[in-house]
Amino acid sequence: MIESPYELPCGVVLPNRLANAAMTERIAEPGNHAGARLIRLYRTWAEGGCGLQITGNIQVERRHLEAAGNVILDEAGDVARLAHLAEAAKAGGAPAFAQISHAGRQTPVGVNPAPHAPSAVKLTEAGVGHGDPVEMSAEQVEAVIVAFGATAARCQAAGFDGIQIHSAHGYLLSSFLNPLANLRTDRFGGSAEARARPLLEAVAAIRAACGAGFAISVKLNAADFLKGGFDLPDCVRVAGWLETAGVDLLEVSGGNYEQPAMIRGRPDDRRESTIAREAFFLDYAAELRRSVSLPMMVTGGFRTREGMEAALASGAADVIGLGRPLCLEPDLPARLIAGETDRAIDAEKDVTPRGAVMAWYYEQIFRMSEGLAPDPSITGAEARERFVAREAANLEAYRAA
Ligand SMILES: Cc1cc2nc3c(=O)[nH]c(=O)nc-3n(C[C@H](O)[C@H](O)[C@H](O)COP(=O)(O)O)c2cc1C
Repeated sequence: MIESPYELPCGVVLPNRLANAAMTERIAEPGNHAGARLIRLYRTWAEGGCGLQITGNIQVERRHLEAAGNVILDEAGDVARLAHLAEAAKAGGAPAFAQISHAGRQTPVGVNPAPHAPSAVKLTEAGVGHGDPVEMSAEQVEAVIVAFGATAARCQAAGFDGIQIHSAHGYLLSSFLNPLANLRTDRFGGSAEARARPLLEAVAAIRAACGAGFAISVKLNAADFLKGGFDLPDCVRVAGWLETAGVDLLEVSGGNYEQPAMIRGRPDDRRESTIAREAFFLDYAAELRRSVSLPMMVTGGFRTREGMEAALASGAADVIGLGRPLCLEPDLPARLIAGETDRAIDAEKDVTPRGAVMAWYYEQIFRMSEGLAPDPSITGAEARERFVAREAANLEAYRAA
C-alpha cells in the first residue's frame, strides 16, 4: 500500500512508498551553490507528503555538469548552504537523499567542449549541444571514484540521510556500463564486471566514507534500449553486485540522451493493458526481482493510484518514484494517500509546441522556487523563452565564476 512505511537495510525509514524522483532544478546561485530558490522548492516538495525526497543531480566535479545551473559539491562546494537545503527537504518528516553525478560526455558544450568519458565516442543524438569526449586515463577514473566518496561525505555532513549515485541516463557511470560508449581495454572496460567497476568502487568509497547507517541508493537503467548497448541481462548482473555491495535502494529507470526512454517510455512498448503501460520499467524490475532481493524503487510513467498499488502488490517495486506529476502537483502524494484523488492531472498533453514540454516542466519547477504555485496554463512557447533566457544566464554565471 502506498501509505505503508518502509525500512531500508541501513535503518533509514520511509514514512510511505512514494518518492520524489531526482529532477534537476537548474537554479543554483552563482558559484553553483544551493540558495534560497532551491530551499523554497524543496520545502514545497517536502510538505507534499512524499516518503522520500531525492534532489536533482548535484555534481561531484566542476567541469562536468548536466547543466550550468547545477549545484556543485567538490572540495570548493558550500556544505553550510547545502545544510539549509537538506533541512528544507526533510521539513515534511521524510528522509532526504542527494543525487550525486558526473555528467561525462552528456555535459553541455558550453560548459565543457571536451568532456571526460570512458572512450572518445561522441553522442549520436541529433542535438548539437555536446562536445568531443576525451578518453579518461585510469588515474582520472580513480579520481572520480574518490570524488564520489568525498561528495557523499559532504552530503552526510550537510544532514542528508543518504545519497543516490546517478548511474542511469547516459551520464558518466552509466556510459561506463554501456559497451557502445566504453571501448576500453583496461580494468574499466570489456567485461560487464569491468564496465561496472567505477560504479562498484564508488559504492565502496561512499560506504567507507559514510558508514553503515547512511543510505546508498543507485539509479540504474533497466536497459539503454540501444542495439548493442547496456541491456537487461547486464542490468541483472550489475544489480546482483550492487546487492552484494550492500546498496540500500536500487532505482530502476532507462534510456539516455540517444534514446530518452526515461521520459518517453520504452521505444518497443506494445503492451496491451494501460496499467502495464503506465509503468515504463515495471516488467524489467520484475525480471530483476527474480534474482535480487534488495529494495527497489521503480520510476517512470506512474500516474494513477491503481498503477502504483499494482506495482507494489506485484513485489517488483517497494517504492514508487514520481517525477513530472510533482512539478504540477507538489502535494499529490499527500492527496493520493488521503484518498482525495486517485490520479495525477494530465496537463502535459495540451502543451504546444510539443518540443517545449521539458521547458514547460522546468518553468513549473522555477515557479515553485519563487514561491509561486505551478501554472499548467502557461504555453510551451512562453516556457521555452524563459527557459532559454535562464539557461543563458546560468552559463554566463558559470563561466564568470
Ligand atoms: C524536469 C526533469 C528533470 C529531471 N532530472 C533528473 C535528474 O537530475 N536525475 C535523474 O536521475 N533523473 C532526472 N529526471 C528523470 C526523473 O527522475 C524520472 O526518471 C522521469 O521523469 C520519469 O518519471 P515520471 O514519468 O514520473 O516523470 C528528470 C525528469 C524531469 C521531468
